[in-house]
Amino acid sequence: MTSLDLTGRRALVTGAAQGLGEGMARALAAAGATVVVADVQDELGGKVAESVGGHFVHLDVTDESSWEAAVGSAVEQAGGLDVLVNNAGVEISDLIMNVDPDDVRRMLEVNVLGTTLGIKHAFRTMGPGGAAGAGGVVINVSSVAATIAFPAISAYSATKSAVDRLTRVAAMESGKLGLGIRVNCVYPGLVPTEMGAGLANDMARLGLFGSAEEAVGAVVELTPSGRLGTVEDMADAVVFLASDAAKFVNGIGLPVDGGMGM
Ligand SMILES: NC(=O)c1ccc[n+]([C@@H]2O[C@H](COP(=O)([O-])OP(=O)(O)OC[C@H]3O[C@@H](n4cnc5c(N)ncnc54)[C@H](O)[C@@H]3O)[C@@H](O)[C@H]2O)c1
Repeated sequence: MTSLDLTGRRALVTGAAQGLGEGMARALAAAGATVVVADVQDELGGKVAESVGGHFVHLDVTDESSWEAAVGSAVEQAGGLDVLVNNAGVEISDLIMNVDPDDVRRMLEVNVLGTTLGIKHAFRTMGPGGAAGAGGVVINVSSVAATIAFPAISAYSATKSAVDRLTRVAAMESGKLGLGIRVNCVYPGLVPTEMGAGLANDMARLGLFGSAEEAVGAVVELTPSGRLGTVEDMADAVVFLASDAAKFVNGIGLPVDGGMGM
């Protein structure tokens, strides 16, 4: 059995100031990695970085120059880069018949463009001749929303399906170019972070369920494991994919949803 130990690895997690990203940063650090917390929320992100003994870099994933600066600084502070987790994301619920184009543009920018730029800069940095240059792992955060149909999250689901396809093509390109970088994604089920709890409230506000609790109950009902996901459930899957235990796992989408999306 190959170990899940990440001692000596350097990992950058986007959107790691709170929620799932924070949990992933904590779990990667607990597995031995040096972690770089990257987020637009400087104060919160700085605190998470300090508590895991890592580093903080300001990063707006939608901005190319921000990626250049953040990755450069991460490599300098951590002494290299072996793992990128493209976790930053936004979700804005609405019925298709009421959808606001600006909301859709925002989700496309953060979820699709942000992930695309992350893969780009990971490839350039971790591939042969890059500033880190020793190969590595990219883990993208898609969603169970890419595998099921749930009301009021149409555009969000579309962006997470895009993350899934980006993952497959990126793994293929990495192989063809001999970059030595595995690329996978996870499909988290519903977790009551700020985003997850907000989604349940939105379902009630839009009149799809009688209350947020009813919306959560409907999700649990669809889940063979009979509960919502936790931050730790998602973080554990990311540690596995980052580790050598997953060394022949490439180009996949891993459901971490208690069976909801089967
Ligand atoms: N919570 C869930 O139920 C759930 C389920 C499936 C997938 N996901 C996905 O997991 C990821 C994390 O979700 P979460 O629940 O922790 O959300 P969250 O809203 O609690 O946290 C998102 C983080 O991303 C950061 N962020 C947003 N825009 C950014 C940008 N432009 N640049 C850098 N950072 C940015 C925020 O500052 C925040 O720290 C997202 O990609 C989300 O789509 C969440």
